[in-house]
Amino acid sequence: MDHFLYRDGTLFAEDVPIRDIAASVGTPFYVYSCATLTRHYRLFEEALSGLDHLVCFAVKSNGNQAVLAHLAKLGAGMDVVSGGEYRRARAAGVPGERIVFSGVGKTAEEMRLALEGGIRQFNLESEPEMQRLSRVASEMGTIAPVTVRVNPDVDARTHEKIATGKSENKFGIPIARAREVYAEAAALPGLDVIGIDVHIGSQLTDLEPFEIAYEKVAELTRQLRADGHDIRRLDLGGGLGIPYERSNSAPPLPIEYGEVIKRTVGDLDVEVEIEPGRLISGNAGLLVSGVTYVKQGEGRDFLILDAAMNDLIRPAMYGAWHDIIPVEEPAPGVDQTPYDIVGPVCESGDTFAKQRHMPPLAEGDLVAFRSAGAYGAVMASEYNTRPLIPEVLVKDDHFAVIRARPTFDEIIKRDTVPEWL
Ligand code: LLP
Repeated sequence: MDHFLYRDGTLFAEDVPIRDIAASVGTPFYVYSCATLTRHYRLFEEALSGLDHLVCFAVKSNGNQAVLAHLAKLGAGMDVVSGGEYRRARAAGVPGERIVFSGVGKTAEEMRLALEGGIRQFNLESEPEMQRLSRVASEMGTIAPVTVRVNPDVDARTHEKIATGKSENKFGIPIARAREVYAEAAALPGLDVIGIDVHIGSQLTDLEPFEIAYEKVAELTRQLRADGHDIRRLDLGGGLGIPYERSNSAPPLPIEYGEVIKRTVGDLDVEVEIEPGRLISGNAGLLVSGVTYVKQGEGRDFLILDAAMNDLIRPAMYGAWHDIIPVEEPAPGVDQTPYDIVGPVCESGDTFAKQRHMPPLAEGDLVAFRSAGAYGAVMASEYNTRPLIPEVLVKDDHFAVIRARPTFDEIIKRDTVPEWL
């Protein structure tokens, strides 16, 4: 459920008409709803109630500092994967002890940044990374709390580009080697081995892969404890999917996901962390775009929008579906027309949807892409020298621009032409 609904014939974000935001900031833009972010965050809080837990929002899904600050006020921790994300989370007011640092390629500089600023734990993904953190922490005269990410070799049954828990993926250490690697980690100076980390993929629409992975983690917890490690925290990753296509069956709910967690690791007397991104931010955001032209092609009509693949890459990159709806509510029973919905970028991949049935639209009309709050703005680029589009946050009946559209001057000035040219 989200807070983007038609009211009096037009689409609202909470109590703000989308058309008013469009008139004020211009299209295209992203708009996020505080109430929806809150609701989705709380679903996870409820799902884990009764367990000692922390919900760490995956910053990679939506890193705007206003979004992070809003979630942090609700009590969320953050999962970051770069020094940049760490700085963003800190700038948004998140204390270091609520930030976990994931990712396969942490540099010594990133390790130092987090150790200086405060960190809840590093999720380590390889032996060389363990050795480097040991060295960095020892040089700083400090102890780094760590988990090791294990790769459980589980098929997440999702898009191949976002599956991470199979043995051929670059993530984690093979679970079969875990005892050996934990022994090595425990022997390294500067590391405090506190737990286990796992993340098997994103946009999972089936709970079984989670269940299989978490059972393996529970078994490993018992083994490692028997080996003498004080395993007291399990980071179970993110990945629960969202309904992108309203007409399709809905993926499992956070409460059902919570039951899987309780069933598999609930009796281990551990602190549980999860790292959801998409389920919190995805359906809390829309991409709003204007129709630049309606073009009659050979046997098909094109809706040429002012948003493009550089603003929302998911359809071009993963063949992802986003529901696209008109901002002005169509009259009931109005005839639908199939359109190819495209952007202005000069490649055919700049296609959001093919033969999508929509009510008839005309130049200047507004459309909204649903489920665009996760992996939307964060994956945008300035390809074709198209400025990054603004982000807007709505709360009740007011809205604010939380990232402004850069001017062309700002963009042009970023390059330097050497004088010797
Ligand atoms: N934790 C780790 C270690 C991750 O790698 C990810 C996502 C998450 C948590 C959050 O997963 P979520 O709950 O959002 O599914 N760009 C792709 C998604 C890439 C996900 C990468 N890792 C997309 O647009 O579908």
